[in-house]
Amino acid sequence: MDSIVLSKKEFNDLRNLVYSTSGINLHEGKLELLKSKIAKRMRLTKKSLKDYLRYLNTDEKEVIEFIDTVTTNHSFFFRENKSIEYIINQFNNHPQKDKKEFKIWCAACSTGDEPYSVAVQLKNLGLSFSIMATDISHTVLDTAARGIYKTEKLKKVPLPILHRFFQKGTGKYTGYIKVKKDITRHIMFKKFNLIKDPAPQMNFDAVLCRNVMIYFDAQTSEKVINKLYQTIVPKGFFAIGNAESLMNLTHNYKSIKKIPSLYIK
Ligand SMILES: C[S@@+](CC[C@H](N)C(=O)[O-])C[C@H]1O[C@@H](n2cnc3c(N)ncnc32)[C@H](O)[C@@H]1O
Repeated sequence: MDSIVLSKKEFNDLRNLVYSTSGINLHEGKLELLKSKIAKRMRLTKKSLKDYLRYLNTDEKEVIEFIDTVTTNHSFFFRENKSIEYIINQFNNHPQKDKKEFKIWCAACSTGDEPYSVAVQLKNLGLSFSIMATDISHTVLDTAARGIYKTEKLKKVPLPILHRFFQKGTGKYTGYIKVKKDITRHIMFKKFNLIKDPAPQMNFDAVLCRNVMIYFDAQTSEKVINKLYQTIVPKGFFAIGNAESLMNLTHNYKSIKKIPSLYIK
């Protein structure tokens, strides 16, 4: 049995739980996906539907399992790289670049493709930097910390960078690539919930929050972007995804005409 019967009330309760935990707005179109996920988790936890739904309400980790199902963790190396390229160029032109350590926060980093993409480009220019990379999901963070990827995820990485910062797998790792230690040591992966966790008391030169706000409603997005604003240095950068927009949200970011997904504080 791969599906279950979920009443309207049960679906609405689940929807409210996911919303209050993660800010993600579930629509009816996700019902079938949710039902098969519930069936799978019921089998694994050996619980009835009623017991499982009750258990969900007491275990945030289990709710995040759902979030993994209804959002996509899809990411790849050098995705939407224009805004990253722009930020890095600006860093490279910084008058104090030789003395400065650039601080970056990838605030919904998924499996790590994004922070590693930023890191290899900074390293390639010899800039000094540290990256905090966060996500709500421990599953993706585990993958990120391992730093091992299917080769196809790196199709967009320029060859000189690929050869310099990645190691080709052999034997059982044929078809995989590993990020070299020289890169991983600059990145700290940790759990951070954009909705529930308070803004860290840190000053970042750039914050990336890309391809996660597509799951949020306007009210939630507005709260998130203003929370992140507090963590950015004056004239620091804020990047969102190409499919996202800050239009109709109240905020103090200034847009950068050449790159619609990039803002400055
Ligand atoms: C599509 S991925 C984006 C990855 C990367 N930023 C990119 O653009 O390729 C969206 C990520 O947002 C994470 N996410 C969803 N809700 C979140 C929340 N409330 N706080 C932090 N991360 C969240 C998901 O776990 C997922 O890994």
